[in-house]
Order: sequence, then C-alpha cells, then structure tokens
Amino acid sequence: MSEEEKNTEEAVKPGVSRRSFLKDAGLMIGAPGLGSIAAVAGQIATSPKAEAAQSPNQTAPQKITSTATTIDLTVNGGKYRFAVEQNWSLRQLLRDQIGFTSPKDWCGGQGACGSCTVIMNGRPVLSCMTLACECDGAVVETAEGIAKAKHPIIQAYINNNAFQCGYCTPGFVCTAKALLDRNKKPTEADVRDALGGNLCRCATYQRHPPAVLEAAANLGKA
Ligand code: FES
Ligand code: FES
Repeated sequence: MSEEEKNTEEAVKPGVSRRSFLKDAGLMIGAPGLGSIAAVAGQIATSPKAEAAQSPNQTAPQKITSTATTIDLTVNGGKYRFAVEQNWSLRQLLRDQIGFTSPKDWCGGQGACGSCTVIMNGRPVLSCMTLACECDGAVVETAEGIAKAKHPIIQAYINNNAFQCGYCTPGFVCTAKALLDRNKKPTEADVRDALGGNLCRCATYQRHPPAVLEAAANLGKA
C-alpha cells in the first residue's frame, strides 16, 4: 500500500461507527444534561459517504454535463477526483458529492454567516462562495478532519461550552483552527478579530475567545 493510500484510508476509514468516531475524537462524554455537546458532535461527525470512500481518486456517481471540469483535491487527507459543474460551490462538492456535512448553509450561500467555513490551502474560506472548479489541486480541511486529528480546539470548545445548538460551530472551529495555524499565541483581540465573520444565532460569542485561548495554551504544551 502506498503512502498516499495509507493516508486516504486513515482519513476516511470505512466501518468506523459514528459512536466510535466521536469517542475517538474525545466528544463522547457521559455526563447528563449536555445535549448541546451531542448536537455539536453531530455537526462534526464523519459522514457515511466519507466513510465509504475507500480509495484515492474516487469518483462519486453523479450526472454531469459536457461543460463539467475534472479536478483533483485533497480533503482531510483523502485524495479525490471529481467532475464538477461550473456553478457548483465547494460547499456543494464537500457535502453533496463527498459527504462531509460539517460546512453548513445558514445564509443561503450569500457569504454572510461563516457557517460554511473550511480551511483551504491554510486559509479559512467561505465554501459557499468558492467555486469547486477553481479548487483543482487544493488541500481542504473541514471540521471532521480537525476532530479526527484530535486538535485541542475541539476539547476547548467542549470545556468552555462554546456552542448551544451547534449549527454554526464547525465554521467557528475551522476559523479558529486556521488562526492557530498561523498564530500560535493569539491575543483575545486577535481571536475576536479572526472570528468576526462567523455568526451565531444562539449568541455564544462570549464563549469563543476563552475556548480558542485555551486551545492555544494546550497547543503550546504539546
Ligand atoms: S453559507 Fe453563509 S457564508 Fe456561506
Ligand atoms: S450555537 Fe446555535 S447558531 Fe451558534
């Protein structure tokens, strides 16, 4: 098995149950009365489609037109090749074709809420505003990949109850992780500035800075 195949198998290991995935990701906690944690765990759980993708360069069954463009991209360590329509967004590709459902759509794809944020080539991007056909060669990370890698931002969000319904949380997590990738010691002002484009209908805003700062402190210990 080549190194690339090993990476892909690791990224989208088939047969991993939702429960075992969440346990591995540190998101299964037995305390009662923490329904919101279960909610956010659901937002970042790995998907059946992603679990089923076993080989590099997998092409999902899809109906395409003659104007479709073939792209190669890496998502959460897995290699994919897709024929994409010119008007598909990266969010559509990730959710509808590959099966990573953490990028959400709160504002109707208007670029206004940040709930669809993913990390592409090291930068947070709005996947609803990014054309899939322009992502050839891109390296993409979603909240599923961040959770699977057991990044400290996940446990910090749990510790700080930085969510209620969890719908916006994958977008916040991606934005925060991208900040920590480029700034290992952010100030609270840095965190507030970075998260300024992410909206939360449950108004959990005060919980995010301490969560991100805790993750930064724990990254420093690693
Ligand atoms: S869905 Fe709201 S910014 Fe993308
Ligand atoms: S936690 Fe509900 S929208 Fe943010």
